Order: sequence, then C-alpha cells, then structure tokens
Amino acid sequence: MRCAFFTAALLTLAGCNNSNEPVDADADTAIARGEARYVTCQGCHGNDGEGLAGMNAPRLAGLSADYIERQLMNYRSGIRGGPDDFYGVAMNGRAKALGGDGAVHDVAVYLATLPEPSAPLSADEADAQVLALGASLYETCAACHGAAGEGNEALKAPALAGTDPAYLARQLNNFRSGVRGREGDPEGEQMRAAAQVLPDEAAVEAVALHAASLR
Ligand code: HEC
Ligand code: HEC
Repeated sequence: MRCAFFTAALLTLAGCNNSNEPVDADADTAIARGEARYVTCQGCHGNDGEGLAGMNAPRLAGLSADYIERQLMNYRSGIRGGPDDFYGVAMNGRAKALGGDGAVHDVAVYLATLPEPSAPLSADEADAQVLALGASLYETCAACHGAAGEGNEALKAPALAGTDPAYLARQLNNFRSGVRGREGDPEGEQMRAAAQVLPDEAAVEAVALHAASLR
C-alpha cells in the first residue's frame, strides 16, 4: 500500500493522474486513491470497513468490489435509499459526494482488499432456538449466498456472514416491502422475490441471526 501511494504521488507529480478516471492498468493506484476516498466513510463504517452497529452502518469488508460499486451507483441514482428508506437515505448524499464514477470504482476496489472482519456473534448473543429456526429457513438462501454465507459472485449475491443481524433484518424487510429491489434494480428485484419466502418478522429475525453467525 505504501508503495502504491508512492506510485500515485509520482504520477501526480508527473501530471499524469489528475482525473477521477480509474486507471485499470494500474490497479494499485486505484486502490490507493480509493483508500484516500474512504476517509470520509470511516466515521460510520469503521476504520477497516468492519461496520459500526451504533451508526447502523454495515460492514463493507468482505463484500466484492462489484457489489459495493453497484450499491453506490444505486444510491447515487436513487434506486436505493430515498425518503421511504429511513436508514438508507443517509447514503444517497454520501454516494453522490464521491464525485465521478471513477471515485466509486476506486473506493469499491479499495474496500474489496480489506480482510473480512472476524467478529461473528458470541454464543450468548444468539438464542439456540432462534438459530435453529434460522438455519432451516436459510436452506433456501444458501443456493445463492453460499452455505457459509460467503456470497456468490457469479450470482451477484453478496456475503452475509458476520454482518450485523439488525442490518440484515432491516434489508430483508426492505426487500419484503419493496423499499429495496425497485424497478430498474434487477439484482435487488431478484432478492425481493427471494425474501417473500419469509412469512413474518420472527422468520426474518431468525434467518438474519443465523446468517450473521456464519463464518
Ligand atoms: C453518516 C453515516 C455514513 C457515512 C458517512 C457513510 N455511510 Fe455508507 N451506509 C450508512 C448506513 C446507515 C447504511 C445502511 C443503510 C440501510 O440500512 O439500508 C450504509 C450502507 C452502505 C452501503 C451498502 C452496504 C450493503 O451491504 O449493501 C455501502 C456500499 C456504503 N454504505 C458505502 C459507503 C461509502 C463508500 C461511504 C463513503 C463515501 C459511506 N458509505 C459513508 C451510513 C454511512
Ligand atoms: C436467487 C438468488 C437469491 C436467493 C435465493 C436469496 N438471495 Fe439474497 N440476494 C441475492 C442478490 C442477487 C442480492 C443482491 C441485491 C442487490 O444487488 O441489491 C441479495 C441481497 C441480499 C441481502 C442484502 C445484503 C446487503 O449487504 O445489503 C440480504 C440481507 C439477503 N440477500 C439475504 C437473503 C436471505 C436471508 C435469503 C433466504 C431467505 C436470500 N437472501 C435468498 C440473491 C438471492
């Protein structure tokens, strides 16, 4: 990383790196630029993208660059967030403030380099009975999100393991009510359909707790 910063500084000095466009030929430079951009996000998502439950901001480490970029573009266009999405609306302005599309790409590729946080739920946080219900409900989810909640890039399904269960439950309710997965968001629409198998709030909370407890 230090080396990438050095390269970025040299390119800037040479006057070749004044745009926001991603330089795919030099991924390290994009990562270094993304790291610098991420400073504005740390207050909510944590220094290492581990997420801060107190800020309602989910962990970002462990998600693919493709997924992060898509969500940021959805927040920018207003397909995600907006006035009906109490917590998501905070992200609309943040995502827009990132500047050109190159900045979105840079921050996404930087975040994808961060190690997955190893902070699964402690045993006493998770009720065994609720977990058992969650595990049985999760069987339908595993086809896309993976048996260990690791995500599936080809299916565009993000990792769920180790994410704050309150965040996961909120997203599931957003998909169930249609606040997330609106027209023009094909991946979200797919998940909106998948969320309909969850009959009630108890099912949502149980499956969220199970997914969060995976590693
Ligand atoms: C004011 C606090 C705040 C700041 C600053 C902030 N975020 Fe967020 N972010 C949130 C919250 C809250 C959510 C969850 C919204 C929800 O519950 O739907 C979120 C969600 C996200 C998501 C969706 C994650 C997922 O799993 O789908 C991404 C990606 C994201 N933020 C990236 C960023 C980036 C990159 C920045 C910096 C440019 C940033 N955020 C700055 C509060 C913040
Ligand atoms: C057909 C494949 C498929 C199935 C089955 C499926 N999902 Fe998803 N899920 C997706 C995709 C694709 C996304 C990404 C949506 C997006 O890009 O906004 C997603 C997103 C999510 C998110 C949002 C994560 C975040 O970081 O914001 C949660 C939570 C989730 N799924 C949970 C579940 C649960 C729980 C089940 C089982 C009840 C399930 N999914 C079943 C494909 C699926």
